Amino acid sequence: MEGKPPDWYEPGLRHVWLPYVQMKTMRRPLAVTRTEGCRIVLNDGRELIDGVASWWTACHGYNHPHIRAAIERQLSVMPHVMLGGLAHEQAYTLARRLAALMPGDLERVFFSDSGSVAVEVAMKMAVQYWVNQGVRTRKKLLAFRGGYHGDTTGAMAVCDLEAGMHALFLGFLPEHLIADLPVDDESAAALVRLLEERASEVAAIIVEPLVQGAGGMRFHDAEVLRRLRALADRYELLLIFDEIFTGFARTGTLFACEAAGVVPDILTLSKALTGGTLPLAATIAHRKVFDAFWSDDPAHALMHGPTFMGNALACAAANASLDLFEREPRLSEVAAIAAALRQGLAPCRDMRRVRDVRVMGAIGVVALDRIDDVYELRRRFVAEGVFVRPFGATIYLTPAFTIAPDDLGRLTDAVIRVVGELE
Ligand SMILES: Cc1ncc(COP(=O)(O)O)c(C=O)c1O
Repeated sequence: MEGKPPDWYEPGLRHVWLPYVQMKTMRRPLAVTRTEGCRIVLNDGRELIDGVASWWTACHGYNHPHIRAAIERQLSVMPHVMLGGLAHEQAYTLARRLAALMPGDLERVFFSDSGSVAVEVAMKMAVQYWVNQGVRTRKKLLAFRGGYHGDTTGAMAVCDLEAGMHALFLGFLPEHLIADLPVDDESAAALVRLLEERASEVAAIIVEPLVQGAGGMRFHDAEVLRRLRALADRYELLLIFDEIFTGFARTGTLFACEAAGVVPDILTLSKALTGGTLPLAATIAHRKVFDAFWSDDPAHALMHGPTFMGNALACAAANASLDLFEREPRLSEVAAIAAALRQGLAPCRDMRRVRDVRVMGAIGVVALDRIDDVYELRRRFVAEGVFVRPFGATIYLTPAFTIAPDDLGRLTDAVIRVVGELE
């Protein structure tokens, strides 16, 4: 950080515990005083063009006036009431609107407060779906190498433990089946062999459709999802699409499942749901799943209920975000970003350290052979006036959909310069 930090910085830094970082050796985080559109304004006055949209949440840019007004209005009426025994307009309206956007009979919305919890709920729904029908042997999930579904215990257990960041918890986590995505005939045949042997233990398949995000921004095509749907049907498994990253147009269609023409049985959303303003997540169940809970037996109810589920401020923000998807040209903006990323990142293809350049929707990826000093790389990006946060050996851009063409050009130019300089 340049210049003198603000008064709150040092005293707070001694007490805050930061994510995913060795705090002894880390570089100090940049102090931010405000955000505007696609800009992050630092305490020392510098403005960075944001290439990450705060972990992929701020899809309309920061401080969108329509979302801000909705939150302010809701705050003056009622910030929160619990959903146990009480009902409020924002949550009920949001449930109805999300159900209307979903393909097929995905129509029951269970709210929670983070993506990981939405995944936990999806997994519990899947297991209890079978238990409610008297099947007590289907307690495992089938998940995929390269996948990431969150950091809570249940969600960690369906991540790629060996490649991902959760390997040290091996032995603590419940064991599920982790397979290769069926991207070709060989991997598809291997998956069939696994299911022939073990499908009777499996409650559901869980997958991030089209893009495995935090696991390395790896793309697969829609055919993989059609294969998974067919296998789920053949072996009578539920199919869960984790659209926490891909949902709300990131890959080019409003939801990734649309691109494949596949309807999952359960779908999870979070991140861009509130346009990057407040924490909220949703687990959306197909009618067939909900029907297995609809009974005269109280024990068949879904046993889950986060304190802040359906928070009125967050639901007001999400309803306002949906207004923006309805009335502003987000899908064509994403298509324009995809074209600009393709063109803007193309020069990286010929660079020595680059292994792959790929683009899907508003996701641009430059995969390197390795990153030796991630802090130095991040510092170089800040020196270029942009905020880009590489992980593993991957540099990626996931800007807000409202980013101006010039700003997007500055992001891709910065990637070209920084990657071009690598030894
Ligand atoms: C696909 C996917 N699922 C789940 C999560 C977890 O969400 P959260 O960090 O809100 O718990 C993430 C977060 O990156 C994600 O990308």
